[in-house]
Amino acid sequence: MIEKIKNSPLILIIFGASGDLTERKLIPALYDLKFQNLLPENFAVLGVGRTPMTDDAFRDKMKQGIHKYIERKENINDNIVEAFIPSLHYIAINTSEKEDYGRLDNRLNELNQIYQTGSNFLFYLSTPPSLYATIVQNLGAYQLQNQETGWKRIIIEKPFGYDLDSAKKLNLEIQEIFSEDQIYRIDHYLGKETVQNILVTRFSNGIFEPIWNRNFIHHIEVTSSEEIGVENRGGYYDTSGAIRDMIQNHLLQLVGMVAMEPPTTADARSIRNETLKVFQSIRPLTTDDIFNNVIRGQYRASKIRGTEIKGYREETNVISCSKTETYLAMKFYIDNWRWSGVPFYVRTGKRLPIRVTEIVIHFHPSPLPLFTKENDNSPSTNQLIIRIQPDEGILFKFGMKVPGAGFKVQETSMDFHYSDLSDKHLPSAYERLLLDCMLGDATLYIRGDAVEATWEFITPILKAWKEHPEIKLYGYPAGTWGPDVADSLIDGPVRSWRYPCRNLTSDTSYCEL
Ligand code: BG6
Repeated sequence: MIEKIKNSPLILIIFGASGDLTERKLIPALYDLKFQNLLPENFAVLGVGRTPMTDDAFRDKMKQGIHKYIERKENINDNIVEAFIPSLHYIAINTSEKEDYGRLDNRLNELNQIYQTGSNFLFYLSTPPSLYATIVQNLGAYQLQNQETGWKRIIIEKPFGYDLDSAKKLNLEIQEIFSEDQIYRIDHYLGKETVQNILVTRFSNGIFEPIWNRNFIHHIEVTSSEEIGVENRGGYYDTSGAIRDMIQNHLLQLVGMVAMEPPTTADARSIRNETLKVFQSIRPLTTDDIFNNVIRGQYRASKIRGTEIKGYREETNVISCSKTETYLAMKFYIDNWRWSGVPFYVRTGKRLPIRVTEIVIHFHPSPLPLFTKENDNSPSTNQLIIRIQPDEGILFKFGMKVPGAGFKVQETSMDFHYSDLSDKHLPSAYERLLLDCMLGDATLYIRGDAVEATWEFITPILKAWKEHPEIKLYGYPAGTWGPDVADSLIDGPVRSWRYPCRNLTSDTSYCEL
């Protein structure tokens, strides 16, 4: 792979370069690639923004970003930083003004000459989504999508659309200029190593697939909880809420990975065909389902370990009577042969006790409960926990005999932690996704039809909330696990979500938060 990427010259053009994402995620990820010798020999970045800035000022800002936000501080090497920084350039344009793209075009030609990048251009849109269509149109006006000389690709940040109609419209607007195989819709969850490991765990081990279906699985939980609130993003979040911010994209993508059929080959087309089928098979929710099986909540002010925490409505740029949900838990079904009758429970929230993303596969109990647990006489059940973050790993829970008289069962765990593979570097999501796109691999990017299929499932919920303001919005104190009615969603013997800890294995008695 090193050979291939070394010989793939390109210019990465980042729109929204003066924004947060560039400094926090994109440039540190590029630096990490440089550190591993995974950037092309001929490579440059052109930051594009409205804020006037010189190349030097941009470089200084990005250098600070690398030092501040890089995940593995031990990767900072002054010589490599100094070799990387001069490849960063900046141009200020008014992205809504067509004429300004003439200047962009000239600058790209100049850099193309200097860096000998063969007119291979990768555009990255990290601006407010309202600008996506305009930028694409203006790129088209200067033929910057044209692949007669050099390839052209475009990465689009989330949110992709606001509902089904706007996502369809945006797809059409972009596809008018770029062809689908040039378009890379990013969902950074798919760039996480542990998310890709779902595919490897399922399809490289003969033991899982035979039991990965309704005959053996009772239900599946997907949780993505965050400790932080909306921070300085109140303005964006208040028009988005948890459903658009996390469920429509990140969490449904996780469901796609867990529920998909085995692809025929491990390439972008087969894998994305299979996840699309999952989204298309999710049973649409009726208005009744939305009343009963979709629980929304909003965090209220509270005190966590002696510190006063603001309620959502007190956050900057949030309206004081906001009904935006910062928590969402829901139950739905996937109507296909594999999953018929198996409930999927998905929840996410801000200002919950800890940051955890995990998938819990609950297996059916043994058909005849010969033995019961020591403490509560209930039969033991098996769970497979796929921990996406933190303490990345996999945990399998099963019953063992309590030593001594009788036949009582104790739940025990078998666990694998990524941290045990200490010699292996876990790439950050953006590192992996940028590298894939530079290599032209779209496997971990979302196809246009899949984006529409997820919005097709989500849009009726948005509509029902609008038409039925009486659908409850529960308050929950910041720092708790959200409205307790969410437990009532869960059917079956367990009747509760798993309440995880930071540490993958400790979810029972003592739990350090
Ligand atoms: C982003 C959301 O897409 O994902 C944020 O906009 C959220 O609100 C973030 O905090 C979570 O990502 P991660 O990688 O920290 O789980």
